[in-house]
Amino acid sequence: MFSPRVPVDRQPNRLAAAAARARSEKRTLIDLTVTNPTVVGIEYPPRLLEALAGPAARIYEPVPLGLPAAREAVARDYARRGRDVPPAQIVLTASTSEAYSLLFKLLCRPSGDAVMVPVPSYPLFDHLTRLDGVEPVPYRLEYHGRWQADLASVDNQWSDRVRAVLAVSPNNPTGSLLTCSELDALDERCAAAGATLIIDEVFADYPLHPGEDRGGPAAHAPRSFNALTFHLGGLSKSAGLPQVKLGWMAVEGPDALVREALDRLELICDTYLSVSTPVQAAARSLIEVGETVRPQILARVTANYNALASQVSQHSAVELLHADAGWSAVCRVPSTQSEEELVLALMEQDSVLLHPGFFFDFPHEAFLVVSLLPGPDEFLHGIRCVMERAGG
Ligand SMILES: Cc1ncc(COP(=O)(O)O)c(C=O)c1O
Repeated sequence: MFSPRVPVDRQPNRLAAAAARARSEKRTLIDLTVTNPTVVGIEYPPRLLEALAGPAARIYEPVPLGLPAAREAVARDYARRGRDVPPAQIVLTASTSEAYSLLFKLLCRPSGDAVMVPVPSYPLFDHLTRLDGVEPVPYRLEYHGRWQADLASVDNQWSDRVRAVLAVSPNNPTGSLLTCSELDALDERCAAAGATLIIDEVFADYPLHPGEDRGGPAAHAPRSFNALTFHLGGLSKSAGLPQVKLGWMAVEGPDALVREALDRLELICDTYLSVSTPVQAAARSLIEVGETVRPQILARVTANYNALASQVSQHSAVELLHADAGWSAVCRVPSTQSEEELVLALMEQDSVLLHPGFFFDFPHEAFLVVSLLPGPDEFLHGIRCVMERAGG
């Protein structure tokens, strides 16, 4: 009866089941997996959502790619980061996840087409591709003191079924930024094959080492693309507002392709009209909320990254992998037990919850992925437990 787009096995994994059990027993957990900025003690403006109730929100005016004022507000947000994107090349979505789905509909035939997906990266790509009937083809990121895209694995895996290359910069969970030369190489391959480049930049506002060459502007500097290119962003990370549901894509590349893509996207977006009018009417003030929320999150993740580095420096068997930006960090720990045994022991015996590397398809064991969002005391306590148990 049901489509194989939804996996047959939907049981929670062992860690999720153990965490659910602990929560049902009312045990207090130190959650080093948290990705929700609204529950970690960040201060939001008191009248945060008032803009949603303004008079403009009462009139329904369906515009498939988004209301002009909202698209202009997003263009101004790009200008803040030094990028000049015409509002006409911005498409509003309810979230970045939805943007992926719209793009898979735009680019991939109903069966057999593929998109290249970085590994390790965002685990939701499995579901996002599967739910749209698209095959994910992995290409590797390799760590040699810094993460690098393995271009040989892009070439080896390439076939004429590949319609797009997904790049996540800064990447989740590795925190790595693509360099200009990596972007050039992906752009060149996509342009030559008539494929598109999709760059997920949701964490671009969170450089962990401002001023470093690779820490932001270098990789995201204005540039022209030879391939049709979609940049994805949204309020869930840039303003710490995942509940509001406003994302966007900026379309760049050769003019004729940009026009054709926008024209086709208009039909797709018109079919769903999923971004609510109150959110679009409030887009400008919601984007401005980012000006007060973003610095707090940046201060939090930077302080936690530095605290993690300091703890790791006291344990010679543990290595903190260099992260350029984002809300997460990765540690390599001795593989004296499996990642699963280690995270289950941390959960059961120390009440510390964190993700094992295999959740993100790291090539081998043992890696731990740590969210940098928790409050500083909780974070430090959790990290000390991790070092005690995993540090050898
Ligand atoms: C790389 C990446 N892209 C997109 C998202 C989701 O963004 P949105 O809330 O806009 O769907 C996440 C969420 O963690 C993410 O890590």
